[in-house]
Amino acid sequence: MYVCICNAITEDDVHGCMASGCTTARAVKAACGFKPGCGMCTKRIHTMVSQYRTAGELADALTGGPLALTAVPEPSPAAEPGPSEPVGPSEPVGPQGPIAAVTIAEGAAPQTAA
Ligand code: FES
Repeated sequence: MYVCICNAITEDDVHGCMASGCTTARAVKAACGFKPGCGMCTKRIHTMVSQYRTAGELADALTGGPLALTAVPEPSPAAEPGPSEPVGPSEPVGPQGPIAAVTIAEGAAPQTAA
């Protein structure tokens, strides 16, 4: 959806600017290549920036601050199943638990539950 019709700036454009580090409406306008127009979009851009900052502050408050990036350790070769080891479950499992194997002898009539 368009935020600024005069400059053809969409919500995605504004979100992209904020995600790339713009924290003020002025910075968003500069990053989006905003040129002066009718001004009808100014309040909307300010609201979007405010909501974005509030959401970021709320996320930081809930998580204890911005999370630091850490390297994911490589899995050890001993932990990975070998080519001869079965990967999946040893017996078929249905939604109500393991499925028992049923063998019907040749020539026997199938039994039905009463
Ligand atoms: S709608 Fe943005 S300047 Fe007109």
